[in-house]
Amino acid sequence: MYNSKIVGLGSYVPDNVVTNEDLSKIMDTNDEWIQERTGIKERRWVKEHSGDTTTTMGVKAAKVAIERAGIDKDDIDFIVFATLSPDMYFPGPGVQVQHQLGLKTVGALDVRNQCSGFIYGLSVADQFIKTGMYKTVLVIGSELHSRGLDKTTRGRAVSVIFGDGAGAAVLTRTEDTAKGVLSTHLHSEGEHAEELVVKAPGMATRWVTDILKDNDVNDESYFPYMNGQFVFKNAVVRFSEVIMEGLLKNNLKKEDIDMLIPHQANLRISQFVQKKFGLNDGQVFNNIQRYGNTTAASIPIALTEAWEQGKIKEGDTVVLAAFGSGFTWGSAIIKW
Ligand code: UT7
Repeated sequence: MYNSKIVGLGSYVPDNVVTNEDLSKIMDTNDEWIQERTGIKERRWVKEHSGDTTTTMGVKAAKVAIERAGIDKDDIDFIVFATLSPDMYFPGPGVQVQHQLGLKTVGALDVRNQCSGFIYGLSVADQFIKTGMYKTVLVIGSELHSRGLDKTTRGRAVSVIFGDGAGAAVLTRTEDTAKGVLSTHLHSEGEHAEELVVKAPGMATRWVTDILKDNDVNDESYFPYMNGQFVFKNAVVRFSEVIMEGLLKNNLKKEDIDMLIPHQANLRISQFVQKKFGLNDGQVFNNIQRYGNTTAASIPIALTEAWEQGKIKEGDTVVLAAFGSGFTWGSAIIKW
């Protein structure tokens, strides 16, 4: 029996910083509203012609993770790539990572679970390693939101929240089953699929030929829609439930959490969860202030930064938790 262990972490964000003040020049919003409701001060949005894409950002983060893991890229047995903003409709970015990293013809899987994407991806990697099928798996979460946002006042409730970036983790086999990923917990509730959604391009109702013919610039279905308050209310409940589920599964108590890395959806959500679990500021890592919500990339970017800052140490109990579109939510309990 094996466990999987994170042995390398990396992240990449575009250079281009977009402040709340910058946004107030292109839509009817302001720094006070954004900070008060979300905690966000700035985010990164790729610059036109920068060459950054969801895949290339993922590859940059992966290169750092591979180097830090001290492995040869040919040791990677499998790729898992989580994103809601792929470069192409299909194929997904996983295969492009295989090509751009120059890997052997290893399998590549794309995960479509939005904000929970990294935890779903981590769980897939963990299962493959635990069964012995693969020894080393690369998990990437990457998003290029900025090209898909409605950056007018019409879209302000959503567009001020999201940012671009990527994070990656290399997981490998350990025979010490008291260490590494102890358990993962995944959930979904598709009843609420349309509460946080980008509907187009979808095959449910319209022919692509008609979409092209209509060429309707007012078609909002290409932009993200979020029922913010409904999502918020569900998020705080599900975050708490799924963290508790993970703790109970491992006979752990709230007090055993050394570091909680919540998906960076909204600083108010993280603060609610922090209070509920009685954690101090040093036990919860947040960077939404600087990056906004980077969806599938948010946990691996935060995890990387927490590790870089020496906030995660050998033997620590690290809890990851996410909630988002689907609805999907999940947690991972890791003994570092
Ligand atoms: O990562 C996936 C999971 N996502 C989440 O968990 C996000 C959950 N939801 C939220 O974080 C919050 O609901 C938001 C931050 C998205 C919105 O905050 P809210 O307190 O729920 O605001 P609201 O949508 O109820 O809007 C309040 C007011 C409205 O004006 P009226 O109708 O009261 O006059 C909006 O039109 O704020 C207005 N508004 C804005 N004003 C300035 C909406 N967006 C903006 C904006 N700037 N960007």
